[in-house]
Amino acid sequence: MDKNEHRKKTLGFFREAALNKEGFYDAPNANDLRHSIGQRRVRAYLWSRVVHLAGSSDTLLEVGCGNGDFIKELAVELPGTKFCGHDFSSEMIEIAKRKYGGYANLSYRTQDLLNPDPDIGRFDIVLCVNMFHHLHSDDLDRGMDSLAALTRKVLLFEIKNENNFWNRSFRPTNNFPLNLLSPQRARSYLLPKGLRFMRQWNIFGLDFLSPIVILEFSRDEA
Ligand SMILES: C[S@@+](CC[C@H](N)C(=O)[O-])C[C@H]1O[C@@H](n2cnc3c(N)ncnc32)[C@H](O)[C@@H]1O
Repeated sequence: MDKNEHRKKTLGFFREAALNKEGFYDAPNANDLRHSIGQRRVRAYLWSRVVHLAGSSDTLLEVGCGNGDFIKELAVELPGTKFCGHDFSSEMIEIAKRKYGGYANLSYRTQDLLNPDPDIGRFDIVLCVNMFHHLHSDDLDRGMDSLAALTRKVLLFEIKNENNFWNRSFRPTNNFPLNLLSPQRARSYLLPKGLRFMRQWNIFGLDFLSPIVILEFSRDEA
């Protein structure tokens, strides 16, 4: 599938989720608006890392924030930290602004990770959760370039693990390709960009058993 078609299908899928499910893309139906168990485990881990890492004057960006509900919870927990959510779906960003527009330390903006506006700047902590696999396979390096450019101190990077057999053979695709990445490839690509590898969390303990892993990188000269 070429890049244009891939982008159109991805945007269409999340537009539907925004219009029909308040942005809860993995909810079974519009009467049952909740995240999957896997997604909740990922969030619990990320929550503990962000609460541990965030200083009182830090800034945090979530790229591909969807309906913005995760950083809203973090913004309530960490009122001294400034949170910003970006998503390339304007419908998702509309929901986030409508639901969570009233928090002083929280803002949302329509932004494509692959074409960020020049005024975006850098953020102390960058979160990329359940998003990277939606990029076209030809854009994975460009996506990592963008993540590195946006990160001032720490990058928390969730990927769909290419080393996992279930991912390679059975992961459902929603009619458009979902792109896998191995932790090794992400590490070797990001290290020359000044990001030091700190830790890896595997959702089921061992790397090859885990369809989802989270990589944490820290910038040497913060
Ligand atoms: C599966 S949702 C995850 C939302 C949120 N991160 C979460 O964990 O609930 C993926 C989101 O990434 C967004 N997205 C996909 N490609 C993007 C891109 N190139 N730039 C910005 N957002 C993108 C989609 O619109 C969608 O809202």
